[in-house]
This record gives sequence, C-alpha cells and structure tokens, in this order.
Amino acid sequence: MLHFIHSLPKIELHLHIEGALEPEMMLKLSHANGIPIPYQNLQEIRRAYQFGDLQSFLDLYYAGASVLCKQEDFFELTWAYMLRCHQERVVHTEIFFDPQTHTMRGIPLETVVRGITQALKKAKEELGISSYLIACILRHLSEEEGMRTLEDLLDFRHEVIGIGLDSSEVGNPPSKFKNLFKRAKEEGFLLVAHAGEEGDSSYIQEALELGVCRIDHGVRCEESLELLEVLRSRRIPLTMCPLSNYALKVTPNLKNHNLLRLLRYGLCVTINSDDPAYFGGYMNANFEAIAQALHPAQDELRQLSLNALEASFLPLDQKKEIKALILEYS
Ligand code: ADE
Ligand code: ZN
Repeated sequence: MLHFIHSLPKIELHLHIEGALEPEMMLKLSHANGIPIPYQNLQEIRRAYQFGDLQSFLDLYYAGASVLCKQEDFFELTWAYMLRCHQERVVHTEIFFDPQTHTMRGIPLETVVRGITQALKKAKEELGISSYLIACILRHLSEEEGMRTLEDLLDFRHEVIGIGLDSSEVGNPPSKFKNLFKRAKEEGFLLVAHAGEEGDSSYIQEALELGVCRIDHGVRCEESLELLEVLRSRRIPLTMCPLSNYALKVTPNLKNHNLLRLLRYGLCVTINSDDPAYFGGYMNANFEAIAQALHPAQDELRQLSLNALEASFLPLDQKKEIKALILEYS
C-alpha cells in the first residue's frame, strides 16, 4: 500500500504556501531578516505545534509567515515545496497564498507573486510539475480590505488564476464577501472558498451561493442531507485535508473522518495537505494516514487522485494526459 501511494501520480488542490514553511527555514529567515519570533530553536518551534483549534494554529501561522520578506524568501519557500512535490509524485499543484498577510507588513504584492511564480516556472521547466496560483482573501478582515487586495491582484491576472477565502471561519461567513466574489467573477477569476471546516453546513451553502467551483474542507457537509445531494449531483469537489483536521481537532481521530464515507456516497472528494509543515506531513503522509485509519481499496486511492484531476483547473488536453498516467498505474 505504501509503495502504491508513493508512486501514484497525485494532484494537490489545497496547499497554503505559507503553511509549507518548515521550522528550519523559519529560524533561518528570522535571523537573516532580523524578524524576531518567540522561539529560540527548532525544539521550541515544534513544541508550539500543539493546537487546540483553528485560531490557535492561525496565530502561530501568521507569526511564522512574518519572517518572509524578500522575493528570494518566497522563491526559496516555494521551491522547497515543489521539490517535495517531485519526491512525492505530485504532478500538478494549485497553490494558495495570502496576499494580505504580507502586504499588511509592507511587503509589496509584486515581491510575493514574483518570488512564488519564479519557483513555479523553474519547477515546470526542471521537474515537469505544472501549477496554478490562487490568492486567498483573509475572512477575518473586512470585505473592503479584501476588495482593495482584489484590485491590486488585477495587475497579476496572468500569474493568479483564482480567488479563495481562508482564515478564521466561525463568525466570518462567505456572505460577508458577496460583493468581492461577484467582482472577482466578473474579472474572470475562478472561485474557491474554505467552508465547513469549523463552520457549520450553512457556511458551505453560502460558499456555493458565491459561485465557487470547489469547497475547501467541507467536512461538515453531512449536517444537511439536501446540501449533500447538491454536492453529489453537481460533483462539487471537496478538497479535504485529513492531517490538518486531526491537528486542529476538527475530527477527534482519523477513524472517525468522513472522507471515505463521502467518497463512497459519490462525492468528488480529494486528499490534500493544507499546511504540511505544521500538521505533520505532505501529500503521501495524508494518503498514508487515511489508508491506515480507514483501509480504502487501491481503486479508491486511485479514485481520489482521479477526482483531484477532475477538480483541477487544468485544460482538458492536460487532464487527459495525466488521467492516462494515473490509470496505467496499478
Ligand atoms: N489558512 C491556512 N490554513 C488554513 C485552514 N486550514 N483554514 C483556514 N485558513 C487557513
Ligand atoms: Zn486551508
């Protein structure tokens, strides 16, 4: 099973690049850029990775991201993730970044986007991995602030394919960003949103009303049978993140995770790593954790990869090529 998972061609659709910041790089950049963090060494950073809920993680994640200052920092972070994709046979990835986390600190959007896209280009040329970039709006901030960020993103239309919504979910429902998502759609961006991670199923319903084509997480969709039927019949993808859900206590243990049940019910479920440096693993570790806890058949693991391909923003001809790769693999 391990060998099958490791060599299965995989597609990642839910990865925050700031969440791929490993403790070693965090310490190094903290020293190099003179940005203090409240940890002296790797052990102290790792010890802090005990989360009670989403907010306790986000506090640390935003503190960690503050060490990213220069274009080279964003390049180095992204390149390290792409090398990991190469090792783990991730053949295509759609990466989130949080513009406001950086622009609020005075880092120009251009510095962030250039650093990330430079690494993505190199990964395409040298590793053959394709990718898209999605800018997430921070939902704990106002719609007005998000709208200003969306306007800044118009200068990077060729680099950024979509707009997402992340950060503290409860109390910040998708409807808060109705005007922003309407504008983003008019500007031609593809839309996704985190929903149903800690928020109840009404957050998923509201995200669909914004016009999103994927739901990030969606764990709480079973609370509404009507919603479940919509997700199934319209094949709205759920980008689920098992190790993240376990680390943030969205699920008490992985044996209780609904991922396999939803897959068997006919939903377009996918496996992703969310913030791998914080939650104990990249794509293979997430597949392995589900395999160990829920014992899916090999065909079901392959189906998870096919679902991610279907849910990706790749054009049809490239989907066909990758589909052949996945199907020939057994
Ligand atoms: N930002 C980074 N990871 C996140 C998550 N799991 N939920 C919401 N916002 C996030
Ligand atoms: Zn996420």
